[in-house]
Amino acid sequence: MSNRPQRLQKVLARAGYGSRRACEQLILRGRVRINGQVVTQLGVQADPQSDVIEVDGKRVQLPEEHTYILLHKPAGVVTTRRDAHAACTVMDLLQGVTAAVFPVGRLDADTTGALLLTDDGELAYRLTHPRYGVPKTYLVEVQGEVEEAALRRLREGVILEDGTTAPAQVQKVRILSDRKTTLLRLTLHEGRKRQVKRMCVAVGHPVVRLHRERFGPLTLRNLPAGAWRPLTAEEVAALRRTVGLSS
Ligand code: URA
Repeated sequence: MSNRPQRLQKVLARAGYGSRRACEQLILRGRVRINGQVVTQLGVQADPQSDVIEVDGKRVQLPEEHTYILLHKPAGVVTTRRDAHAACTVMDLLQGVTAAVFPVGRLDADTTGALLLTDDGELAYRLTHPRYGVPKTYLVEVQGEVEEAALRRLREGVILEDGTTAPAQVQKVRILSDRKTTLLRLTLHEGRKRQVKRMCVAVGHPVVRLHRERFGPLTLRNLPAGAWRPLTAEEVAALRRTVGLSS
């Protein structure tokens, strides 16, 4: 939301002083000042960034506004804020985004799919913290025909060099017999480096293609590869709930 001049009652409502009606009453009762002057008329506009707005002598603070972007990351693009080798990065795809967003976690250069970018450090920290176990769902094409025993190992935990993986949900979607590959849908609750690829190699089925379908409550819907969209208010609220923040 922008911080251009707005009607005073709207600014007060955004700052948590109740409904617009209730805020109008605060104004009419002479409890609100702009730059030291009591305001009792309802048409007055205020700029929360440059005006000092007070209610009962207490400075009004607007909640911080953050930017939340969902990118459909295409293959060949690096998940980083800056790349010294001038490879194409996810930041290069965010034409029109002015906020200082950064990627939440990472996808390998050859992985496609849902990548969240934000300037909300607290939310990003929680979304990547193992304590919250935010689910991430991948469509994975692997070499060979995957047998039940391999699926079970993926589900129950695979021993990797950095420890055994946590339980995961794994479904066999279909066998692509012409390509001699299997399509799996895998949901992980942790996010170690190159985890899906390392898990699949460990059970004898190297990854051919990897696509992230879902990050927590977020899905791409019809977003084409290379495009981004801002999250809806409902999506931001759902993300916050996922990591125990009130919406
Ligand atoms: N696991 C991987 O191996 N690569 C990714 O990009 C994401 C998860």
